Amino acid sequence: PSLEKEFLPMYFGWFLSKRSSEILRKAGQAFLDELGSLKAFKKESKYFASAIEDPKIKIDLTSYFVKRPPGVLHCTTKYTDFGKAAGAEEYAQQEAVKASYGKGFTLSISALFITTKTVGARVELSEQQLLLWPGDADKILPSDSLPRGSRAHVTLGCANSVEAVQTGLDLLEFVKLEKAGNKGEEVGEIGGGKLLYFGNGMWMLTLSKKIDVKAIFSGYYG
Ligand code: 2AM
Repeated sequence: PSLEKEFLPMYFGWFLSKRSSEILRKAGQAFLDELGSLKAFKKESKYFASAIEDPKIKIDLTSYFVKRPPGVLHCTTKYTDFGKAAGAEEYAQQEAVKASYGKGFTLSISALFITTKTVGARVELSEQQLLLWPGDADKILPSDSLPRGSRAHVTLGCANSVEAVQTGLDLLEFVKLEKAGNKGEEVGEIGGGKLLYFGNGMWMLTLSKKIDVKAIFSGYYG
């Protein structure tokens, strides 16, 4: 019998376990709390104007990033849009993708970051994990040439009217600055690592101890 054409998911990615999602959410929350009460951050708080109640006390970043993913967190590999996205079929048919579907992985979280639009966690992919990374993902402009996996992230939250796709683009902006020689201004040590400021409301906390999260590679069908 002939089968129907395979139905592709909205996106492929690594879906964190419930426990790992909670750990990462908590780390993100602690980061926002600490950043919001930091003097150096308050000085630059004009970028987060809607979160300022009394700038002398605290910038409420939790309510600034109102759109938070419900349920378990994930790291998108390929957005396939149910097969409509460019390269969707080719991605789904790769041996590595088929062989890894439903398998468990440990992802390494190396940093947390915020911009005026998004808050996210940077994921450092291993060689094996990079086999599942699409070739066309690490670009904002077609002319961009950044290391494979540069965009890998977990979205923790978005500001009002910002869509989740923005988090990966924001991370690529950091990587572009790093590549151009701007390593960020070292603001100091805060809970968990070194805080860097890149200007324009772009902050990154590089974790002194990376967070390992457990995740299943799978597809999300909506
Ligand atoms: P995210 O990976 O930054 O969280 C469903 O919308 C999921 O697919 C979201 O998690 C979202 O962003 C991701 N997504 C949506 N559109 C995308 C696109 N054009 N490219 C890559 N990822 C996208």
